Amino acid sequence: MPHADFSNFALGISKQDAYRQMHEAMRSLAEAQDNWVCNLANASSLLWHMYHSLGSPSSSVNWAGFYVVDQMDRRQLILGPFHGKVACQTITIGKGACGKVAEEGKTLLLTDIKEFPKHIACDGDSKSEIVTPIKVGTEVVAVIDIDCADLQGFDTTDQDGLERLAEILRDCCDWEDLLPPVSPIAPY
Ligand code: SME
Repeated sequence: MPHADFSNFALGISKQDAYRQMHEAMRSLAEAQDNWVCNLANASSLLWHMYHSLGSPSSSVNWAGFYVVDQMDRRQLILGPFHGKVACQTITIGKGACGKVAEEGKTLLLTDIKEFPKHIACDGDSKSEIVTPIKVGTEVVAVIDIDCADLQGFDTTDQDGLERLAEILRDCCDWEDLLPPVSPIAPY
């Protein structure tokens, strides 16, 4: 089938089924492709079209994409592939929702971003957000970041669906250039 067909989600399907279809599409697209830029770019397209095929509040998703560990400065994340408006280019590890998730390695589900003082507002329209880490072993190499213009845009179905996507992306991409450099083995 033409590649663009992967972005078509039937209207009226449940959120859980939409995530299942998105996971399947991602696995198929990545079958012969392990470049993380390419796979994250298609993943952000799939996420955007999936949310916009669903009812409210998912249809109010206004940003869907990725921040990755900056290869030039591992103390920060740098903007990766996304769908939505222009966004912050770098985020210090530990700062904002994305930086906290990169530091702690656990999903952060914010039903109201105002309740999270560290939140970095790239778009004044965003009201809720979910951030999920992509981890290779214990190392966070990237985060999935989704913003919604409605309060309570995300729930545990989104958390499960994004954590599963993070595992698929972990397994189908070559992350070597985003992992810490391996220190040479000291000679005897
Ligand atoms: N809100 C994020 C910044 C990235 S934008 O939402 C795209 C944060 O607090 O880290």
